[in-house]
Amino acid sequence: MNSEGTWWQDAVVYQIYPQSFNDSDGDGVGDLSGIHERLDYLDELGVDIIWLNPVYDSPHHDDGYDVRDYRSIREEYGTMADWEQLLAALHERDMRLIMDLVVNHTSDEHEWFQASRRAPDGEYGDYYVWRDGRPATDATDSPGPPDRAPPNDWEAAFGGPAWSYDDLRGQYYLHLFLEEQPDLDWTTPDVRTDVYEMMEWWLEKGIDGFRLDVINLVSKPADLSSGRGPGIEACAGGPRLEEFLAEMAAETFDNYDAVTIGEMPAVTVEQARRYTGPDGPLDMVFHFDHMTLDYDEEDGWWGLTEPSLADLKEVITRWQTELADGWNALYLGNHDQPRIVSRFGDDEQYRYESATALATLLLTLRGTPFIYQGDELSIRNYPFESLAEQEDAMTVGRVQAAIDRGEIDSFETVRELVRERTRDNARTPMQWDATANAGFTDGDPWLPVNPDYREVNAAAQQDDPRSVLAYYQRLIELRHETPALVYGEYELLLPAHESVFAYRRTLEDDRLLVVLNLDDEPSRLETLAASPRLLGNYDDPTDTTTLRPYEAVIAQDP
Ligand code: NOJ
Repeated sequence: MNSEGTWWQDAVVYQIYPQSFNDSDGDGVGDLSGIHERLDYLDELGVDIIWLNPVYDSPHHDDGYDVRDYRSIREEYGTMADWEQLLAALHERDMRLIMDLVVNHTSDEHEWFQASRRAPDGEYGDYYVWRDGRPATDATDSPGPPDRAPPNDWEAAFGGPAWSYDDLRGQYYLHLFLEEQPDLDWTTPDVRTDVYEMMEWWLEKGIDGFRLDVINLVSKPADLSSGRGPGIEACAGGPRLEEFLAEMAAETFDNYDAVTIGEMPAVTVEQARRYTGPDGPLDMVFHFDHMTLDYDEEDGWWGLTEPSLADLKEVITRWQTELADGWNALYLGNHDQPRIVSRFGDDEQYRYESATALATLLLTLRGTPFIYQGDELSIRNYPFESLAEQEDAMTVGRVQAAIDRGEIDSFETVRELVRERTRDNARTPMQWDATANAGFTDGDPWLPVNPDYREVNAAAQQDDPRSVLAYYQRLIELRHETPALVYGEYELLLPAHESVFAYRRTLEDDRLLVVLNLDDEPSRLETLAASPRLLGNYDDPTDTTTLRPYEAVIAQDP
């Protein structure tokens, strides 16, 4: 659903990973009161909306994306009263709150799944995707009984088969992610009714929207009796997806002033236009096209390549122009991705310059920008040395499955790759100050703090006008004051330039230039010479035709 000038189009979103944001009670895990304590920081940064990763009761096999009870708060995070106080405090500051909605799957400890496995003919018998499986004569690899193979050969996203056998029920169930995350069967009408009731319950509590986890996977192909490869790809954009989304919208968020962002692996612009266009059920989608630019063509996630600027320009330009009648959700990193300064910038020699250049990109495109916690400080990837140090179910699961299949000998073979890829890079604790554990906790942090926290932390940057944090503040302020940066038409300039990403944003008579040298060498450029600068990450130049390494400029286009 889309109309120009809504509160969420004008907004800048800040994503909080609660487990790693701020620990108020010394147990090493961040919590809701911890977030509450840091609201001044968010206010000063200038963000308008907070997206909270899941805070529901969960056994945390996948850090909260395995929900055991949708209507209660995980004990480590506090109580429902803490959550209510946080919401009230945000609203008092004119800030909004978006919750994460995880309804493609639940935890296997959810009462629906427990009832479903116990009583196939009972009320919850059809709540999950159960199948008998195929007869097998020699199923030595079968995750179930030797004479029964799984219904098809789909792989789960976190390694191993996408089907597990439940002894109690005597059937296979589908899980596109971990075996502890069984997929709900959305063709069962009661599943949908229960999900909508739960959503309404949260909307009634006063939340301002949902980020819908892997929502384009909820409609599975009708025939599950064959198939191989990633289960996610087979289910993305399934046959009844649009019907389910439309129904969900009509039953829940359409009746509230709420924003919705659907996380959608493998989504195309074409699909996104339908899901988010004027008659579409959602406001925005998170696509993944720029998140795989450093994937090897043959080996995908397992092969690391340098993301090329030409590809980055192509992806961004395609989404900016082809979704021009819709609205983009803009992001460069999140809790599932490596740190942006390490992935797209230079986290050593040009850390400040490249972090601020990336900030400029994120905050000057058409759409709603999402800042991931810590990127505004230029937190970088963590130097993980072993698999044992890591908690990320995806990385550990994939590596373990590859070892089990004999594709790699040991972790050592993929150490360098894992260091770049692990989701834990984004999940290390927030770096608040130079005291022990970066001021994140008085206890033992659940993941180690990045060793550079004594130099790179919020307190140090708050006192430094030439810090990444101060630049983010100025940039957010500029965006808020400049409708052309939010709504202006996007036009790519210098398409063939190998190190400069430049574009124009035009809203009526207001024409702005954004010019980014995404390279560690200077780049020559004539275009900018006479343009009055609105913001840049270097002091005013003496030579106006040369951009310095990672120089970013926002200028009036005369
Ligand atoms: C996407 C979430 O962002 C990720 O963290 C999670 O592991 C999967 N969906 C499964 O819920």
